Amino acid sequence: MRLFGKKKEVSLQADRPVPRHIAIVMDGNGRWATKRGLPRTAGHAAGSEVFRNIATYCRDIGVEYLTVYAFSTENWKRSEEEVSAIMGLLKKYLFEALEKMEKDRIKLEFFGDLSRLSPELQELAEKTKQISKKYEGFQANICLNYGGRDEIVRAARAFAAQCTAGAAKPEELDEEAFGKMLYSGSVPDPDLIIRPSGEQRISNFLLWQSAYAEYYFTDVLWPDYTPEELEKAISAFNQRNRRFGGV
Ligand code: FPP
Repeated sequence: MRLFGKKKEVSLQADRPVPRHIAIVMDGNGRWATKRGLPRTAGHAAGSEVFRNIATYCRDIGVEYLTVYAFSTENWKRSEEEVSAIMGLLKKYLFEALEKMEKDRIKLEFFGDLSRLSPELQELAEKTKQISKKYEGFQANICLNYGGRDEIVRAARAFAAQCTAGAAKPEELDEEAFGKMLYSGSVPDPDLIIRPSGEQRISNFLLWQSAYAEYYFTDVLWPDYTPEELEKAISAFNQRNRRFGGV
């Protein structure tokens, strides 16, 4: 396997374990662009290329799931220009993903309420999801119009509706059953959550699923994020002592 450019040929997979599920808040795009005298949208464009690169890298080193925060339920507060630039980048990414699917073999999933997106984007998301269903191995989950609280409220509402319809009883609900009602229902909880850009907060990301996740923060802005940075996070993760509430 060829990693880190042309000179270093190493099989990192054999060198160390990798987290099964990595989640990333792709933060710092705006600051990255402003620092260069560019419009914020240029930062998002650079960030979407980095997503492509990091997703491929995760696939190659044996990570099973990568979940990224692309657009939150709160991001609609941004200017119309910025929102439409992010939507445009997602459209571009999905178009390209469709073209390269057979080669990339990345399974795509979406977490969030997609009904607020344009019909074209919804259709593209559905198409990529359906086509990539047959791939086994690596899965990328893109959080779109996603909020952790919103996700929990929707699941609670869905369960309440089942109870009202007589299809379920309140006492039947446990953590496992509730977890299955979330967008991430079929995906194991994240092991490692990375937030670049120097911010140290969760910002409504995977609130339920992060109960026992390890966090890793770095000052690097997302458009500058590289596989080497990811390796630093994996290495820190591998030194943590995860006890899951035990001793
Ligand atoms: C946060 O940085 C980033 C976003 C809200 C948008 C992320 C979107 C992309 C990377 C593009 C499309 C995604 C995919 C998966 C193709 P920020 O704007 O809050 O940065 P700042 O904190 O420096 O202002």
